Amino acid sequence: MTLTNSDFSDIRDWDTRNFVHPWEGMEDRTAYERTFVEGGEGIYVTSETGEKFIDGPAGMWCVQVGYGNTEIPAAMAKQAMEMAYVSPFSNSNSASAQLAHEIAKRTPGDLNQVFFTTGGSTAVDSAVRFIQFRNNVLGKSEKKIVISRQKAYHGSTYLAASLSGKARDKGWLDQADDLAYFLPDVNPYGRAKGQSVEAFLDEKIADLENAILEIGAERVAAFIAEPILASGGVVVPPKGYHKRCLEVCRRHDVLYISDEVVTGFGRLGHWFASEDVYDIVPDIITCAKGLTSGYVPMGACMISDQLMADISGEASQGAVFSNGFTYSGHPVSAAAALKNIEIIERDGILEHVREVTPLFEERMFALAELPLVGDARGQGLMGCVECNAQTDGSQLELDYSVGSMIDEHCQGMGLLLRPLINMCVFSPPLVIEPAQINQMFDILAEGIKRTTDDLVKQGIKLS
Ligand SMILES: Cc1ncc(COP(=O)(O)O)c(C=O)c1O
Repeated sequence: MTLTNSDFSDIRDWDTRNFVHPWEGMEDRTAYERTFVEGGEGIYVTSETGEKFIDGPAGMWCVQVGYGNTEIPAAMAKQAMEMAYVSPFSNSNSASAQLAHEIAKRTPGDLNQVFFTTGGSTAVDSAVRFIQFRNNVLGKSEKKIVISRQKAYHGSTYLAASLSGKARDKGWLDQADDLAYFLPDVNPYGRAKGQSVEAFLDEKIADLENAILEIGAERVAAFIAEPILASGGVVVPPKGYHKRCLEVCRRHDVLYISDEVVTGFGRLGHWFASEDVYDIVPDIITCAKGLTSGYVPMGACMISDQLMADISGEASQGAVFSNGFTYSGHPVSAAAALKNIEIIERDGILEHVREVTPLFEERMFALAELPLVGDARGQGLMGCVECNAQTDGSQLELDYSVGSMIDEHCQGMGLLLRPLINMCVFSPPLVIEPAQINQMFDILAEGIKRTTDDLVKQGIKLS
């Protein structure tokens, strides 16, 4: 629907006055002029004024099959007309049972127990609550601390937020500090001058093991890690990192939660990245976003048969896992997810991602040549440029707004990005074609050049 301008001033007003957006800045809620997105097709979205943009972040890393798909809404409508809602507490329905089976077929190892949630945060929350529950049933009620990492993002419920390590998000809200422990940054770009990536990796593995020893393995329940730290700036840990972390966890009876809310459902060319890309079979995987290509909310955590078996039957002592939601396994969301999986499979979207990844990575890494860019990094169809006007690692006040400056220039040329302080991240819909990848990176490079010119005009000397 394209709105007329007179309608639209009202809408903008209601948005400012009545819609509290995520991460709302409180100083002046009218200051940030959001682009309204009212339509979309493939990798493109259309604004309220009819302007067309490449959607660089695919919404929030989620619109895998692209916009304007009609099969997913048709499947949702059919399900809603037949049976819109069933209580997952006392009943079941065929869409969610079938979806649990389809997910279990695609998870690594014996991660066959699917617990449905309403999104990514509740998937992380439920994974951690399950581990707490399990340790209580096993009589290990002291074993509760979860080790996470600086810059991690695991969600916005109290527990998931408590495990998130982005310093900027921690200032004004309370957290369950006694449950979380944060390891230092795993970004190889930030390693000490002269340190090899191999030595950096050894240091990161030692960080994990030392933390477990320092806290005491009898108090550490789990380690949680995104395969690639997404909102933390697309941080790709050194090769071998996840495998070695899992070995450390296994040595100390610490469970491994792989948070695949972003990497799940194709972003790296596989249903899940844990085993196919990083060669690990964790104990629990969380997912959301790409599960329904963002067409409707849904998340899940997949728990291993072994973890379940350990506390089932006689060992359960009659315990009940009292955790769940009115909308756990919602039939309409399940119908959307089933159709989404069918489309990804039928259209060869995982293979497509693997085919276009070399071009995407080549264009992404080439951005590092631009004087303003300190690091260009990523994997699969997710990437980030980190800008630093100074090459000595020091940061200028202006660096903090560079991401928004680039985003503004790129929007003017038809590309939406996700600015994060001095970074811009991008993770387009998985159906992006090679010519569109080139178009996206041409605009991004031009946006960075124009931002550089702005900085030079302001008297900033790039070193
Ligand atoms: C890795 C990761 N985990 C969890 C979440 C939380 O997901 P949601 O916003 O669906 O609750 C996010 C959201 O961006 C995420 O990136």
